[in-house]
Amino acid sequence: MKRFLKILKWTGIIILVLIVGVTVTVMLRQELKFDGPYPEVASSKDSAVIARGKELVFGPAHCADCHSLQNADSLFNLGQNVELSGGYLFDMPIGKIYTKNITPDSTTGIGRYTDKEIARALRYGVGPDGSAFFDFMPFHNTSDEDLSAIISYLRAQKPVKKEIPKNSFNTVGKVVKAFLIKPVGPAGEVPVSVKRDSTAEYGKYLSVNVANCSGCHTRRDLMTGEYTGELFAGGLELEGFVTPNLTTDSSGRLFTWDQQQFITRFREGKKLEKSPMPWNSFKRMSDADLIAVYKYLKSLKPYKTGQPLIASK
Ligand code: HEC
Ligand code: HEC
Repeated sequence: MKRFLKILKWTGIIILVLIVGVTVTVMLRQELKFDGPYPEVASSKDSAVIARGKELVFGPAHCADCHSLQNADSLFNLGQNVELSGGYLFDMPIGKIYTKNITPDSTTGIGRYTDKEIARALRYGVGPDGSAFFDFMPFHNTSDEDLSAIISYLRAQKPVKKEIPKNSFNTVGKVVKAFLIKPVGPAGEVPVSVKRDSTAEYGKYLSVNVANCSGCHTRRDLMTGEYTGELFAGGLELEGFVTPNLTTDSSGRLFTWDQQQFITRFREGKKLEKSPMPWNSFKRMSDADLIAVYKYLKSLKPYKTGQPLIASK
């Protein structure tokens, strides 16, 4: 009996030491800092560059979809530009993540940061203070030229002073943050500039590296973000929707659509009120951009929804 009590006592002590050890480690790892290269990207005051940036920000790159409050969606739908003062809450199982104020305000917005700090945040997922971002933004392989245009437009906006609450995490979130979150960077080489035309090649760049069609229209592991299905074969469950297959399989949504139907569907904008697809941004994409995306999707091999990864990434 005595021996049994002794074992019990020591087991208790060991468990306690372990719990304290893990808790302290998790706490210490909340402020982890990361390094990432600073891209050779600088903003410009050239009006043509700013105009190009604006087209990306409110169009294919859909910044407004996340960096404005959701009630802005209806204004946006009417063709008005909304302010990018952030504050939209992603209320996730691990905690609360807020989009940031990306107007040029010098105390609460990107006025505090250099061009290179903003470019690094977008390309390498490392915040200006060295923290790792949760991987919401798909711009890791966006060209230098497009990043410059985007930052040039951000700097040209009217500054809005708005303090954004800090992200906050529950216990599971703190553990995830301490051990699992690392900055996500580009895959392969990033182009300096990409030729803009209405070819399938440009459509691929837009679909994968700017508009993130692939990020939603592919089955993924929702915990790690890893791709588990063929690219564009759909089947990802998002906020009560399942994304349709965009490949050329006969079960694919675009199988019977011609180019004009595709453009018309995008001009119509959001039809299902709760759909997470940023239709109201994409609605503003130019005909040339939409034709490029259409041609690219029509060049894909046919895959059934959820077909496991075989050919592409
Ligand atoms: C799918 C949603 C989403 C889209 C689209 C998006 N962002 Fe973000 N962005 C976020 C979230 C969420 C954060 C905060 C991440 C974090 O705290 O881990 C963020 C952070 C940032 C930051 C860091 C600011 C700071 O103060 O640390 C910048 C700069 C930024 N976004 C710019 C942009 C630009 C420019 C675009 C469009 C080209 C864009 N974002 C599109 C969700 C998005
Ligand atoms: C944030 C996730 C997300 C992104 C990014 C996204 N989609 Fe979607 N898409 C969805 C969801 C969810 C649906 C189903 C609900 C709906 O129809 O709105 C959908 C539906 C569609 C449909 C079918 C519409 C219909 O009326 O039948 C097409 C076509 C489509 N997406 C193409 C694209 C293309 C092309 C891109 C990139 C330019 C893209 N999507 C980017 C989530 C996304």
